[in-house]
Amino acid sequence: MAYFVNGNDIFKKARKEHYAVGAYNTNNLEWTRALLRGAEETRTPLLIQVSTGAAKYMGGYKLVKDLVEDSMDAMNISVPVILNLDHGDYDSAIECIKLGYSSVMFDGHALPTEENLAKTKEIIKLAHERGISVEAEIGKIGENQGAGELASVEDAKAFVAAGVDKLACGIGNIHGVYPEGWSGLNFDRLKEIAEAVPETPLVLHGGSGIPQDQIEKAISLGISKININTEFQLAFQEATRKYIEEGKDQDKSKKGYDPRKLLLPGTEAITDSMKEMISWMGTPSIDDKEADASFDRSSLNEE
Ligand code: G3H
Ligand code: ZN
Repeated sequence: MAYFVNGNDIFKKARKEHYAVGAYNTNNLEWTRALLRGAEETRTPLLIQVSTGAAKYMGGYKLVKDLVEDSMDAMNISVPVILNLDHGDYDSAIECIKLGYSSVMFDGHALPTEENLAKTKEIIKLAHERGISVEAEIGKIGENQGAGELASVEDAKAFVAAGVDKLACGIGNIHGVYPEGWSGLNFDRLKEIAEAVPETPLVLHGGSGIPQDQIEKAISLGISKININTEFQLAFQEATRKYIEEGKDQDKSKKGYDPRKLLLPGTEAITDSMKEMISWMGTPSIDDKEADASFDRSSLNEE
């Protein structure tokens, strides 16, 4: 039966060896299968994550866990898979820890720093007792084409000292589509943070739509996990639009209206887009020995 790894070794190695591993949001069954297929075909580790909104849409955190697990079995997935809660609040982080997610992000950025830190420490304690990885957020990732808030070096040190496994930093990155005239990532701040916490994998949220040279520079400075969602939504949308504009959905003799056909081009576009991002990030393929080691059952959450 399929199971999840916590990914700590995977991301630490990425930070040390200057490449990144993608963290991709799932939105439904097609997304889940497209991401698993992309990972298996490239023989790269996969972090599959779900936001609170997407989990609600799909039917809850347990349904998402079962969906990913059962899909891994059905597809004979042999690369390591991490299941992460994305941008969770305190209660959802606890729920996912109890459900057996192998990684959770507690996003306390909207709280005063002291409270964010205190709550992050509580989540770390509960998660680490079960071998689960924890990501925290400092500064603020921009939203709705608006700028966020730069993370401070001081906060980076405090959260790493508290025991976080991965750290998401506001460095000028924005969720969704970047606005015209976006000023780019703040590499000076990224460098300062990376030097202050030299071993901690740093996370780049809002990974869609950032030019390749900036992605590569960010990785060279310490980014080792890149979160991507919008990029694949756009790829899905574009391929689906093409299918419909070509009138294929109206071809009754070929049953072009069947969702299994209608959703196929978009689903394949997700995998294609994922493979392109993997090449940008320089994620190396794992050999079978490594895959077996990553599946060491002793590191698993048995609950
Ligand atoms: O946590 C998820 C991401 O940060 C995804 O951002 O939709 O802009 O790629 P994105
Ligand atoms: Zn994010």
